[in-house]
Amino acid sequence: MSTLPEVVHVRQTPEWAALVAHHQQVGEVHLRQLFAEDPERADRYVGQVGDLTVDWSKHRVTDETFRLLIAAAEAVHLPEWIEAMWSGAPVNSTERRSVLHVALRQPRTNSLVVDGVDVVREVHDVLDRMVGFADQVRSGAWLGHRGTPITNIVNIGIGGSDLGPAMACDALRAYADPRLTIRFVSNIDGDELWEATHDLDPAETLFVVSSKTFTTIETITNAASARRWLLGGLGLAAGSPAANNAVSRHFVAVSTNVGAVTDFGIDPANMFGFWDWVGGRYSVDSAIGLSLMVAIGPDQFGQFLGGFHTVDEHMRTEQLATNIPVLLGLLGVWYREFFGAETHAVLPYSHYLAKLPAYLQQLDMESNGKSVRRDGTPVDGPTGPVVWGTPGTNGQHAYYQLLHQGTSLVPADLIGFAHPAHDLGDHHDLLLANLLAQAEALAFGKTAGEVAAEGTDTDLVTHRTFPGNRPTTTILAPTLTPAVLGQLVALHEHRVFTEGVLWGINSFDQWGVELGKVLAGRIVHELTSDAPVPAGHDSSTARLIDQLRAERGRGPG
Ligand code: F6P
Repeated sequence: MSTLPEVVHVRQTPEWAALVAHHQQVGEVHLRQLFAEDPERADRYVGQVGDLTVDWSKHRVTDETFRLLIAAAEAVHLPEWIEAMWSGAPVNSTERRSVLHVALRQPRTNSLVVDGVDVVREVHDVLDRMVGFADQVRSGAWLGHRGTPITNIVNIGIGGSDLGPAMACDALRAYADPRLTIRFVSNIDGDELWEATHDLDPAETLFVVSSKTFTTIETITNAASARRWLLGGLGLAAGSPAANNAVSRHFVAVSTNVGAVTDFGIDPANMFGFWDWVGGRYSVDSAIGLSLMVAIGPDQFGQFLGGFHTVDEHMRTEQLATNIPVLLGLLGVWYREFFGAETHAVLPYSHYLAKLPAYLQQLDMESNGKSVRRDGTPVDGPTGPVVWGTPGTNGQHAYYQLLHQGTSLVPADLIGFAHPAHDLGDHHDLLLANLLAQAEALAFGKTAGEVAAEGTDTDLVTHRTFPGNRPTTTILAPTLTPAVLGQLVALHEHRVFTEGVLWGINSFDQWGVELGKVLAGRIVHELTSDAPVPAGHDSSTARLIDQLRAERGRGPG
C-alpha cells in the first residue's frame, strides 16, 4: 500500500495568498457584469460528464479565479490524493483504512490489487450472489416460511445503510417492480417500524438488515422487534426450530460483521458482505444497495454502477481545469472561504429526487464537518457547509424568499431532467421553466431602476428589488435513469473529496458521532431505572431525566 501525500496547510501557501488578493478584486463584481463582459462565458463554463450537463457559469468567478483555485489544489497535492485513493493507500488515515468505493463500480474485467488482493474480483463475487438472491425474490422463487413468495421488502438500517438505498429506491421508482412493496425503517422510534409493518403480511415480508458494523443500536433494536413481529405474526415460539427456519427465510443481512450477524440468528449464507474500505455514506453501490437491486432488478442496478464508473473515470483521468467534480469542489471552497456561505442548498426539480438533499447531507456533512486537519492540528478557517434542500418548486413557495432577498448568501444546485418519467400535459415544461427562471432570477435579480420603470410606487421600490448575484450550478440530464443517478452521486462524492483535500481534513471518518452514542447508552439505563439519577450529569440533563422518569412512572418516589 503506497504512502499518503503530504498534508499542506492551504491557507499558508502563496497560492492561497494570491486567492485572497484576487477575491478582494472580484468578490463584489456582479454576475450581470461578468456576463456582459464575457459573452462566451456560458459556453466556456459548462461541461459534460456522462449524461450530465453541468453549468457553472452563474458563479462569481472568472478565468483567473479558476486558475488560482487550481493552483491551490495543486499546492495541496490534489492529483496525488486522487491517485492515493485509487491505489488503496490509507486515505482514511484516522481509521487506518483504504477508501475504495471506486472499486465497487469497476467492471468485472478490471482489477485493483491492494495488499495482494484483487478487490474488484471480491466485489463481483458479492454482486453475483446479490444477483442470484434478487432474481429469486423477483421471480417468486424465494419462498417464505409458509411457502408463499415475498412481496414486501423492509430495509432496516440507518445513516449510510438507509439514506442511499432509500433515496435511490425513490429516485428510481419508475424502474421498480410494481409487484413489490419496498419500505425503509431507520429511526429507533418504534412508531416508524410500526408504520412500516402494521399492514403487511409477515408470511410475504422479507427484512434486509443493513448495518456495516451490525452494532448500531437503532438497527439492532429495530431488527429484534421485526423478528418478534414476524414470529408473532406466524404464530411461532422464539427459539423453536420452526422459528429459526422462519428467520432464515425472512431475514437477510448486509454487513461486514459476520459474527454479529450469526449471533442475531441470521444464516451467514444469507449475508451479503462488504469491506471496511467502504464508508457507510459511500456504500449505496455496495451490498447496502441490495434492497434497491431487488426493487429495480440486477440489470438496472448494473446501469446504476456504470453511471458511477463513468464519473470515476472522469475524476481520475481528467486534468483539474476540466475536471467537473474538482471544479465544483473548488467552488464550494471558494464560497465557504471567501463569501462566508455557511449553507449550501440542493434543489432538485424532480419529485423522485426528494430524498437527495438528505442523502447529500450525510455525504457532505459527515465527511467534511470537521475542525481538525489530518495532522491533528486545528483548522484555521471554515470547512464543510450545512447542506439542506427540498424539491425546488415546493421551496419556491417557502424559503426561496430568503434565497432571493435575505441577508445570507446560499449557493445552490438546481437539478432537472429534459424528460419526465410520466408526461402529463404541460407539467414538465412548467417545472423546467421554474428551474431556469429561478437560476436566472437569483443570478441577475432586478434592479431598483427596472422596478421603478414598471411604475412601482416609490415606497415599494426597495421591497421589490432583487439584488441578484446569488450563485447556482445547474445540472441537467435527459432523464432520471439508474445510470444518471449513479453519475449524480459520484459527482458529489468526488466534489466532497476535493473540498476535504483542500481543507486538509480526512473526509472519511466520523468521530463526531461517537460521544452522543456513548452518552445515550448510559442515559437509557438511568431513564429506565428506579434508582436516583447518578451524579455526573449537568443540572439540566439531570432535571430532564427526572422529569421524563416521572412522566413515564419511573424513578424514586
Ligand atoms: O453513526 C454514524 C454512522 O456510523 C454512519 O457513518 C453510518 O452510515 C451509520 O452510522 C450506520 O452505521 P452501520 O451501517 O454500521 O449500522
